[in-house]
Amino acid sequence: MERFKNLPNFASAMTVIENCPMKGRNTFGIDVSADKFIEFGNEDELRSVLAQAGTPLLTVGGGSNLLFLDDFHGTVLHSAISGIEVLEETDEYVMVSAGSGVVWDDFVGYCVGHGWWGAENLTAIPGEVGASAVQNIGAYGCEVGDIIHEVRTVSVKDGSVRVFSNEECRYGYRYSIFKAELKGQYIVTYVTYRLSRKANPNLGYGALRQSVGESGETTLENIRNAVRRIRDSKLPDPKVLGNAGSFFMNPVISQSDFESIRREYPEVPSYPAGEGLVKVPAGWLIEKCGWKGRALGPAAVHDRQALVLVNRGGAKGSDIKALADAVISDVEARFGIRLKAEVNFILS
Ligand code: EPU
Repeated sequence: MERFKNLPNFASAMTVIENCPMKGRNTFGIDVSADKFIEFGNEDELRSVLAQAGTPLLTVGGGSNLLFLDDFHGTVLHSAISGIEVLEETDEYVMVSAGSGVVWDDFVGYCVGHGWWGAENLTAIPGEVGASAVQNIGAYGCEVGDIIHEVRTVSVKDGSVRVFSNEECRYGYRYSIFKAELKGQYIVTYVTYRLSRKANPNLGYGALRQSVGESGETTLENIRNAVRRIRDSKLPDPKVLGNAGSFFMNPVISQSDFESIRREYPEVPSYPAGEGLVKVPAGWLIEKCGWKGRALGPAAVHDRQALVLVNRGGAKGSDIKALADAVISDVEARFGIRLKAEVNFILS
């Protein structure tokens, strides 16, 4: 905890908006409102908000991983804690702290600009630093839990500070303790990352290796640009077409269940997921069920990546959910696998 003592406590006026429109604050672009929206700029402000706010409380980052099913009758909290600060630096590594309100991709750009390795594969993921540590965002062979050193939080119950070590966060595939046992109990204020000062490229994802190879040397900038190109080729820009990235998680199934799928579909892609377990891409399962590019009312399955559901315009949360339910039911009927949403459903 000592290492946080010099963090800036920016003075800032809190933003409080009653009956706040949320359309621009969720990347699905769902047109709902929140009874109250409060933005805090430092831990003291957060504590004073917590002392007064009733329930329910919802903490949001960039709103890139949630689906509002209706108006939110409670208080939505958003961190505007800014700042990126080096806490420690050696020849090998650097410890950097970022405020939970820092835009995730700005942080990645900062790391790449300073020649620090570890965050580059996570280029262009929408959202903010705080939520990234809760969701354990991941892409192209890297998860943010791989580079997180500590997560500093404030307790919703009593406003006290608690710092979680990486181990205490219990990171797994799209999993952390903040999404599970401790859901809603702590609000992230700062995240400390351990990045490498020595070149440490992670090019295990074939398409990334190829794209970086085509652009010349294996530099941080080339990796960042290659990730951007790959993402742009598959994933819709939320500013153009409302979406929340992968709507479902890739299911992990037993080796024997996998073998029975492979007997029928020898081409099924897969990744090892631990002893006797196999991860199968949900996008492939959904495409095989004929859903890729198909619409159900104002909601649709993206035509370039079936794992992404999109708002074609004017969709309500219930329209997206109806599509998700139809997809889940068809995948289950065909493959015996029940897909789980990665996106958080919000209903108060
Ligand atoms: N696939 C299909 N059809 C599709 C989509 C994918 O057949 O419509 C197949 C692909 O051909 C490939 C496999 O599925 O063989 C995997 O596809 P891809 O590499 O695009 O990745 P993914 O498993 O669909 C995951 C993450 C993404 C991340 C990519 C790259 C999850 C839930 N999603 O998707 O994360 O960008 O890997 O690492 O794990 C996100 O979380 O919002 C997100 C976009």
